Order: sequence, then C-alpha cells, then structure tokens
Amino acid sequence: MVDALVSWVAAVLLAAGGSGSPSQGSPGDRLSEPVRRAIAQRMVNHAVDLTDLLKAVVILDHDAVVDRVRAIHEEPKLSRPPPHETDTLNAAIPKHFFELQDDLIKKTAAVEEAAKTHDDVKMGKAFGQLAESCVTCHRVYLWRSSSGAR
Ligand code: HEC
Repeated sequence: MVDALVSWVAAVLLAAGGSGSPSQGSPGDRLSEPVRRAIAQRMVNHAVDLTDLLKAVVILDHDAVVDRVRAIHEEPKLSRPPPHETDTLNAAIPKHFFELQDDLIKKTAAVEEAAKTHDDVKMGKAFGQLAESCVTCHRVYLWRSSSGAR
C-alpha cells in the first residue's frame, strides 16, 4: 500500500517538475566534466532516503519524521569556496548549486518544525516542498554518464 502511494507521489512530483514550474536553472548551466566529478565525489554520502521520510509523514509518526528529516539536514554538504579562491574545483561550482543546497536546508527545517508541533497539514505540504527542492537540483545537476541524461 505504501509502495503504491510512493509511486503515486513520485508521479505527481515528476509531473510538477516537468511542467516548467519555477526552475531557477538556466539551460546553459552545464558543468564541465572535472567540476561534475568534484561534485559527484563529495556527494558519495548523499543517498538520501526520501521514501522512509514519506512513510513516516503519511502515518503521522512525528518522531520518525523528525529523525529522518534531521538525517537529511545533517548530510555532508559542499562548502562555498573562500571569496578570493578562484583556481580550485570548488570555486568552479556554480553559485546556484550552493543556493539550492541552502534551499534544501530551509525545506528540511520546515518539515521538522511542522512535525514537532504536530501540524499535520503543514507537515504534508512541507514534505512536498522538500521533495520539490530535490527535483529542482537534480534537474540541473544530476546526470548519468552512460545514458547522457543531464
Ligand atoms: C544542491 C543540489 C542537490 C539537492 C538539493 C539534492 N541533491 Fe541529490 N544529488 C545531487 C547530485 C549532483 C547528485 C549526483 C551525484 C553523483 O553522481 O554522485 C545527486 C544524487 C542523488 C541520488 C543518487 C542518484 C543516482 O543516480 O543513483 C539520490 C538518491 C539523491 N541524490 C537523493 C536526493 C534527495 C532525496 C534529495 C532531497 C531531499 C536530494 N537528493 C537533494 C544534488 C542534489
């Protein structure tokens, strides 16, 4: 049952992502190969399990929601290069990427807050917005080398 629900939510999210909802990513935002690799290397621990979080949200298990959303919140993030650094790979990562990371943090905080206050309507909405922020970043920065997908 939960699996069916999960695919339904995924379908809804994909539909929303595909309909030109506000994407801040400019189409010319392609990353060079070395930069892509640098991001990929630092993202090795980035294997967020949104499914577990979704399950906790739909059964209103507030403690589990707090637990899981904190895990996403505390994932290692890429850090902005110091202002005068221009010759490192980190410096070549677009500013936009860091903004999307910040957005993700904000969205996890909203889910946590709603779970803690047992505001279930807000929790559902905040979860949706969190998932959107994953999609927004992946639309621009997730790629699969074999298929040539972005
Ligand atoms: C700021 C950008 C950004 C955000 C926000 C983001 N991701 Fe990612 N994610 C990436 C990038 C870049 C990769 C590809 C890394 C790689 O290839 O190793 C990735 C890869 C992944 C993968 C592995 C994909 C695969 O091909 O196997 C999963 C799973 C994932 N992200 C889940 C999530 C979830 C869930 C969220 C939201 C809670 C999220 N990500 C938010 C940038 C982001």
